[in-house]
Amino acid sequence: MTDTFDLVITNGAVFTPGGLVNTDIGVRHGVTTALGNLRGAKAAETYDAKGLTVLPGVIDEQVHFREPGPIHKEDLESGTRGAVLGGVTAVFEMPNTDPPTTTAERLADKVTRATGRAWTDFAFYVGASPENAEELGTLERVPGCCGIKMFMGSSTGSLLVADDENVARVLKHGHRRVTVHSEDDMRLTERAALVKDGADPSMHSEWRDVETAVRSTTRLLKLARAARRRVHVLHVTTAEEIAILGRNKDIATVEVLPQHLTLAAPECYQRLGTFAQMNPPIREQRHQDALWAGIAAGIVDCIGSDHAPHTKEEKARPYPRSPSGLTGVQTTVPLMLNHMANGKLTLERVVDLLCAGPARIFGAVGKGRVAVGYDGDFTVVDLKAKKTITNDWIASRAAWTAFDGMAVTGWPMATIIRGRIVMRDGELNGPPQGQPVRFLETL
Ligand code: DOR
Repeated sequence: MTDTFDLVITNGAVFTPGGLVNTDIGVRHGVTTALGNLRGAKAAETYDAKGLTVLPGVIDEQVHFREPGPIHKEDLESGTRGAVLGGVTAVFEMPNTDPPTTTAERLADKVTRATGRAWTDFAFYVGASPENAEELGTLERVPGCCGIKMFMGSSTGSLLVADDENVARVLKHGHRRVTVHSEDDMRLTERAALVKDGADPSMHSEWRDVETAVRSTTRLLKLARAARRRVHVLHVTTAEEIAILGRNKDIATVEVLPQHLTLAAPECYQRLGTFAQMNPPIREQRHQDALWAGIAAGIVDCIGSDHAPHTKEEKARPYPRSPSGLTGVQTTVPLMLNHMANGKLTLERVVDLLCAGPARIFGAVGKGRVAVGYDGDFTVVDLKAKKTITNDWIASRAAWTAFDGMAVTGWPMATIIRGRIVMRDGELNGPPQGQPVRFLETL
């Protein structure tokens, strides 16, 4: 063997497109160039993955890193640091920053800010608004942009496209997939009186009820079909929407979150209060069961974290003055591996939801699988490791997780990005060298 590599990973069980294989991996100039027996090959660096499982790099396609804007909650450095500690190799970041990411200049500004500070590879959403709807076809193609994000219901920040006319305008412009926060803003406004003067946090899922989500998703699908535009429905929470989306797979992909798969009302509100408050809300067990059934049926295409950091002080304000959102980018891999250890899903499904799914939905070039010609991105995990998730492990500026104290089986041991071991055994290896993710032109 005369090839030389920058990195060779040996002795691991490697998740290839053909399934789990005991093979070495050779990476050169950031790209996987060989799979097979590389004993004797020259390598600048070797990683011994004995006893470990090497997965394609995990892509988190929904994070909020708050920069520019309220960076006391998070910034691009701290957010991506949490990501690599949690085994994530690339993140797609949301536009509800301050100012919101609604122009080419603001997209370019985020790419500049991330360069030299982001630990992971990255891309940014352009936020849809009634003002920029006609420009979205140009904006979605700005380098470093992963696609369009449309808020049909108000959440953190000011971005909103509430009515059918404006939703249709957004869907009409551009070609790439439109990701959607699907809650009906008219119904949210109508029902705000339920909580406005103060209420128990468990009222959050009563105010933002099943009908709020179903109405919006039904409207969205009708408008998407009329516009012949594919949509990606984010953080689906209801049994009813899973059934509806299962009949619309030709135009809609589906994301669910570990929070909604792990926590359930009313227990989460009794135990965590406003620290379980997020949009759309965590609901009763029957909905969680339906999300799992959606995973088993293949209706769900990917899992993102919706990492939405707010400080403990902000979260502790009396409901509903408390902001919505939970941290998550660092806990997705351990939580999903733990669900796998508990028999909720297979390793094949974990990889499809966390790695291949996001790459496929967004047309990310060189990401999502371990194969020759793809980026040398790997999430190396110990499927047997028994660990406890704790607040002091969380790198986020928010410094808390709703899963503090939870014992899990399965843990990220190394995060390798384009052949660089950026995290190993919980230790970072800098400097941050994340790059913009590239996307297919034609998706
Ligand atoms: O709970 C949420 N928090 N849902 C969202 O849609 C936004 C997010 C945030 O940015 O805080």
